[in-house]
This record gives sequence, C-alpha cells and structure tokens, in this order.
Amino acid sequence: MDRLRIAVAGCGVAARAHTNRLARRRDVRIVALADPDLQAAQRLAEGLIGAGPGVEAEGPTVFGDHVSMLRAVHPDALAVFTPHLHHFRVALDGLLAGCHVFVEKPLCTNVQEATDLVNVARARDRILAVGHQYRLRPTLKQAKQRLAEGRIGRPRLAVGLLAQPWLAAHAGGEDSWRFDPRIAGSGILTDSGDHLLDTLLWVLGTPALEATAIQDRLDSGLDVVTAAAVKLAPNLPATLAVSGVSAGSLFELTILGETGALRVSETLLQERLGDQPFQTIAEEVSGSAGDGPDFQVSQVAGDSIDDDFVEAARGRRFPSCPGDQALGTVKLLEAIARSAATGRPVAIA
Ligand SMILES: NC(=O)c1ccc[n+]([C@@H]2O[C@H](COP(=O)([O-])OP(=O)(O)OC[C@H]3O[C@@H](n4cnc5c(N)ncnc54)[C@H](O)[C@@H]3O)[C@@H](O)[C@H]2O)c1
Repeated sequence: MDRLRIAVAGCGVAARAHTNRLARRRDVRIVALADPDLQAAQRLAEGLIGAGPGVEAEGPTVFGDHVSMLRAVHPDALAVFTPHLHHFRVALDGLLAGCHVFVEKPLCTNVQEATDLVNVARARDRILAVGHQYRLRPTLKQAKQRLAEGRIGRPRLAVGLLAQPWLAAHAGGEDSWRFDPRIAGSGILTDSGDHLLDTLLWVLGTPALEATAIQDRLDSGLDVVTAAAVKLAPNLPATLAVSGVSAGSLFELTILGETGALRVSETLLQERLGDQPFQTIAEEVSGSAGDGPDFQVSQVAGDSIDDDFVEAARGRRFPSCPGDQALGTVKLLEAIARSAATGRPVAIA
C-alpha cells in the first residue's frame, strides 16, 4: 500500500481537527468527504487545500452521503465524525465496503450496535479504532504502567472526576444534535464523560461489572450531572463524578492502592508511597494546547489519535483504543444511564 486512501464521513468541528492532522502525513491521501450538509463538506474540502502532503492539489472530492462516497471512491479507510446516532450505520457500511474504520467516541449509542461493529470488524479482519485520545497522554500511560508494576500495591479504590462548562459552551446550540438525546445518546456523560470512563477502565485494565448512578437532567432528559458507583473487579469499587455545569474544567483520577496512591490528570502524575507526601512524577508544563473549542485534550506531537489509526491501518501497531475495548465503555455508559433511570444497580454482562 503506497498511501492510505482515507475517506471522511461527517465534516464538522471534529473532522476539521482530525483531517488537518491527517493532511500532514506523507503516507496518507484524504480522497473524499461526505456530509448531508454539502456546504459543510465543501468548506472542509476548501480548507484542506494546501494543508499538507496528505491532500491533492484539487482537494478531496465531496459527496452528500457516505454510501455514494464509498461506492465511487473505494477508500482503504473511513473516518467517522458524525453525530453519535449515525456512528453505527456509517461505520458498518465502511467495514462492509472493506475499509479500516476510525470512529469518534462513543463507538455507538448502545451496546448491541457496538457489539455488532466489533464482530463485523473481527470477521472481516479490519481495524476498528475509536477516538479515546486520553489514552495517548504520557501522564496516563505512565500511571497505567506504574499500576501494572505494582508500585502502589493492589488497587482498592478509584475516584474519577470530569467537569466542564459543557452546557454553557453549547448554549445557543440547543437545537443542535447534542441537545437531542435520540441523536446524542445522552448529555455530557456520552459527549465528554466517556473519556473518563474509558480512561478508568483502561488505566486499571479491568471491565466494569456493575453500576449504580444518579443523574441530574434537563427537561429533555439530557443528563448534565452524573454521580456513579461502579464495581470493577471484585473488591475494586470506583466512584465517578461528571459535571457539565461546572465553571471550569477538571479531569482527575485518583487510585488508592494498599501501599500507595496515584493521582493523575492529562498533564500531571503524582505518586505517594506509604504515608509519604505525594511526589510529582511527570508534569507537562506546556499544558493542553487543544485543537478547537471541543478538543480540550491535546495530542502529543507525532503521536495523535490520527497517527495512531494510520499506523494501525498500515499494520504497524494495534490501535490505542480498539473497538472491543471501546465496547466496554459503551456497556458502562449504558449501565449508568439505566441505573439512573431505574434507581437500581445494573449488572454489566
Ligand atoms: N474526542 C474528542 O474529544 C471529541 C471532541 C469533539 C467531538 N468529538 C466527536 O466527534 C463527532 C462529531 O462531533 P462534532 O463536534 O464534529 O459535530 P458537528 O455537529 O460539528 O459535525 C457533525 C457533522 O456530521 C454531519 N452528519 C450528520 N449525519 C451524517 C451522516 N449520516 N453522514 C455524514 N455526515 C453526517 C453533520 O451535517 C455535521 O456536519 C462526535 O462523535 C463527537 O462526540 C470528539
């Protein structure tokens, strides 16, 4: 394969950030863009002209739907940046057309569809990768490694917190898909909170077994605050708090082990051994540059989630978040929402 020919479905904010990174690669060609809003696709195509070696001089070809695009272009890979509800259909069509597929998070809005995608990708021997880019943060990678090395002993409790002025940031866009639970799946829990859920499961290397939750919701049913108790492995509970009505942003995970503790964010890793004070292990002083208003976590240069996908599609590595692992996050998302709706603990199969 000379160049990985990538097609894109969904040409909004996320697509702009991802395609600008992909355009910098010499081994990629962004061949086509599809969006039912043709003007959005055209704007993105024009913006990509001259963005880098990954785009031809005339820019990508534009389509009004992903099915015609797949039929006309036969890409090697499809990147899906649509609203959540459409992830399943578009990604499935991509896999059935023989593409490796990158899907922005969440993989799907429900467990059944996420399971189907994972099974189809496996049966067709295609890469299915999901946009949980926190996994690429050096601080979180180191936290995972230190836990695996047993530096803080057996983990006994995890505490996760994600807060953003999510509602305020999207104010004025109440008619957009993010405010429609049928399209978004849920509110902040799915839109940003799934990064916290994914990070928790990935750092600890365990699936979730049960969730109990309460949520504060808007009249439309959209959650803006979630407090959840999650059973991970036997004897490993976690508490998770997600707020979309916070004045500022926070992302923190604390893991208490039998002989020490780890405290980690996107930019800081601290470790405590025994009853000693916390020591800083890693700190990213530059902070997170971001790639736009919705991208509050930057990627480290040369190792973006897009580079990760391209390397995986070219057979050089496993994707940092393969579909089967993202399925675990969808299961936890669904269990939390169901528990909040029923007031009962929900077991996760
Ligand atoms: N990883 C992150 O931190 C992060 C940040 C922002 C957004 N995202 C994700 O990216 C995805 C898109 O979000 P966004 O902010 O770019 O939304 P957006 O509204 O800016 O863009 C979505 C685009 O998809 C188009 N679309 C709708 N249905 C389609 C279909 N069937 N086929 C093709 N295009 C279709 C819309 O017309 C729109 O142009 C979501 O999954 C979102 O959660 C992830």
